[in-house]
Formats: sequence, C-alpha cells, structure tokens
Amino acid sequence: MASSEGIERFIRPDLIAFGGYSARKSPETLEGKVEVPVENIIKLDANENPYGCSPRVSQALAAYPDLNIYPDDGQTRLRKLLERCSGVDAKHIVAGSGSNQLIDLVLRLFISKGDEVINCVPTFGIYRFSTELCGGTLVEVPRDENFAVNVSAIKAAISKKTKMIILANPNNPTGTITPQQDILEIVDTRLPVLVDEAYYEFSGQTVVPLVSQYRNLMVL
Ligand SMILES: Cc1ncc(COP(=O)(O)O)c(C=O)c1O
Repeated sequence: MASSEGIERFIRPDLIAFGGYSARKSPETLEGKVEVPVENIIKLDANENPYGCSPRVSQALAAYPDLNIYPDDGQTRLRKLLERCSGVDAKHIVAGSGSNQLIDLVLRLFISKGDEVINCVPTFGIYRFSTELCGGTLVEVPRDENFAVNVSAIKAAISKKTKMIILANPNNPTGTITPQQDILEIVDTRLPVLVDEAYYEFSGQTVVPLVSQYRNLMVL
C-alpha cells in the first residue's frame, strides 16, 4: 500500500490550521456539567425538531418511487409549493438540503480570498467556517450587553473589502430578535445581506416578504 506520509503538503496552505465545524453536541456531553438530568435536556442549539419527524414525511419518503434518479435540479414543483406557503414568487426561491448548504453556496458565490464578511457575535458558528473556507475574513461586530445588534458599529465596520453582512434572526445562541427597522437600515448599505431565519418559528417575525423589493436581501 502506498504511504500517505507527507500528504499534508498538498493541502491548501490556508486550511492547514483549519479547525473545522462540528454540528452535533449530544446531550450526553453535558452530563454532570448542568443540573438538568440528561433525559430532560431538549436540544435547541442546532435547530433540530425535538418532536421528531412528522409521520406524514416518513410515509411520503418511504413511498417515493424515484430515489434512484436525480431530482429536478430546477426544483420546479417544490418551489411552486413553497411559493404557496411563503407568499414569495417561486423565482425568488431556491431550496437546499438545509440552510447550512445554502450558507455555503451563498458565501461561495460572493466571497473569495481577502474579502470580508461582517458578522454580529456571539452567533452561529457556521458563518465563520464557511467564510474561511472561501478564503474570506470574518469581521466581528460585537452585539451590545443585551445581545442587540449594533447597527452603527456594523456600518463603521464596512470597508472596501466588505462583501456581505450576515445576521441570524432570531439569533443563535442568544435568542435575540433584531427589529425590522434595524434590518432595513443594514439592507440600505446595499451590500449583500443574508438574514438567517432558521429559528423563525420561535419569533413569528420574518423579512421574507421584502425579498422581492430588495435585490441585496437574502433570507434563509
Ligand atoms: C442559526 C442557524 N442557522 C442555520 C442552521 C443550520 O440549519 P440546517 O439544519 O437547516 O442546515 C442552524 C443549525 O443549528 C442554526 O442554528
């Protein structure tokens, strides 16, 4: 068998020290560290559904006849159905296998080496991972003492290299909601703005209806 010794020299130099990303911390890892017994811990940090998958989804997947062929890459039927439930024209919709994939694709579209992405910390870890994977730099703008987004600090952080502003709303892990007025002020910068509404069901607030109005606004 050929030796794999020295294979590291073929890895992209900017990724040698890359930490990676781990989505999953199981409740068991918290055993003894928190006062709640493991069986009572409900995991909310990875946007997972504590109730399990809908039985109708399981049935539909089990009965699906075409798993052996590629699906329609234009996602025509799905986007039409999503149009109905979101109220947004299908031409503004793209479906991904989870929002992590869409975050990755959006960043790959806009970010190359040396570009900057503004991120309001503390927030979800994948934004750093995907930005750095593209060779970009994450510019951290701290939230205030109540974890509210600091719009003037965001504007002050914009440089010639800024290519995107990312905002999780509600935010993970703080649960903070950014008012629509603040989001609009950020959108007014005319930079690409990615609003991640993975936790929308907890707030019921969304800027989805605004996507047809603002070409620089993307909502997950
Ligand atoms: C804020 C936020 N966005 C996106 C994701 C990823 O979601 P998905 O499972 O749809 O890829 C998560 C998961 O933890 C999240 O917390």
